[in-house]
Amino acid sequence: MMAPAATALGFELRVLAEAEDVSAVSAVSTSPVGDYKDLQTLLDFADGLDVMTFDHEHVPTDHLRALLAAGVNVQPGPDALLNAQDKLVMRAAIDSLGLPNPIWAAVADVAALVDFGEETGWPVVLKMPRGGYDGKGVRIIDSAEAAEEAAPWFEAMSPLLAEAKVEFSRELSALVARTPGGEARAWPVVHTIQVDGVCDEVIAPALDIPLEVAAAAEDAALRVATELGVTGVMAAELFETPGSGVGFLINELAMRPHNTGHWTQDGSVTSQFEQHLRAVLDLPLGATDILGPVVVMKNFLGGDNQDLFSAYPAALASEPAAKVHCYGKSVRPGRKIGHVNLVGTSTDDVDSVRQRATRVAAIIRDGRVPTEESARISEENA
Ligand SMILES: Nc1ncnc2c1ncn2[C@@H]1O[C@H](COP(=O)(O)OP(=O)(O)OP(=O)(O)O)[C@@H](O)[C@H]1O
Ligand SMILES: [Mg+2]
Repeated sequence: MMAPAATALGFELRVLAEAEDVSAVSAVSTSPVGDYKDLQTLLDFADGLDVMTFDHEHVPTDHLRALLAAGVNVQPGPDALLNAQDKLVMRAAIDSLGLPNPIWAAVADVAALVDFGEETGWPVVLKMPRGGYDGKGVRIIDSAEAAEEAAPWFEAMSPLLAEAKVEFSRELSALVARTPGGEARAWPVVHTIQVDGVCDEVIAPALDIPLEVAAAAEDAALRVATELGVTGVMAAELFETPGSGVGFLINELAMRPHNTGHWTQDGSVTSQFEQHLRAVLDLPLGATDILGPVVVMKNFLGGDNQDLFSAYPAALASEPAAKVHCYGKSVRPGRKIGHVNLVGTSTDDVDSVRQRATRVAAIIRDGRVPTEESARISEENA
């Protein structure tokens, strides 16, 4: 999704692809296949680049340091990126900045997890500090008895991150971008809806959020970016906690264009993908104004329909204002394969905007118009 922005600005993009069949290979003409965990592959790939950046957090930190030492312009740099790679490092950094964390601890084994739960109360959220995504690497432990089930996790990785389970009213995301020269800009704080630990929908801006909470969330994200030396796009995922503290807690940081920022492709003057390129190249940042009173982004995961294009006639006809983004990935159940953006004309209208975006996504996912509607539509067409 960075490719259209690079093309518009005339930048040559090269992607180190994980495999021949990943979507980036069809989107970017120079996309050698190689293992991002192999340093020599990274060094060879970096030859002749102005800047190297990432669309995931999993390149080993030591390799990033070696690339820097070899003179590669790595953005964001390893010291910043570490906070998105390792949730224990991130929790400590948020504490040291005096920003609001959930209650947390590093726990080395089941006994330490039980101690944490007894002290803070059950349930406890247990997380793999490294390597998780889309809720994989996150589990809820309901009781001291249930803690024993987590034993295999400690064998895989130790210590783990234990957090008190936060009673939030909704999840928010504060998206910002920062250049190496220190220019930074924020998009409006958005409401994110997760289903089974996976981002499902985003409403921009977060409606009815108290002004001071939105401002504090934006400030917190900008401060994190500045103090940790983040460059490029950064998302701070937040839990909204009305009436307690500043009104939110920080869940985690992502240092790259993020699912909660996909709405900017069609709903903001500057998309997060263009902004990321500008930022890592130390160019002036673009305006982050929203293009309507409300913008909805709805993800679609792999479902019944294997032949997505077969659903396009019905999906595109159902909502001409919707923008469909399809990742060209093979369809597997539960895998993120695309999203729909829809700009609404009034915040009063948010439910209808959500329904319309959801319908387009559902038609593509299922390969058919939702049944209660098909009856109505055929009636209308009769
Ligand atoms: N301390 C907590 N209290 C309550 N819910 C939590 C807590 N931590 C995580 N969650 C829930 O689990 C989801 C996934 O957690 P987290 O963001 O840490 O995992 P991840 O797999 O890294 O996520 P992502 O999908 O953003 O890559 C959160 O969006 C939230 O819904
Ligand atoms: Mg998350």
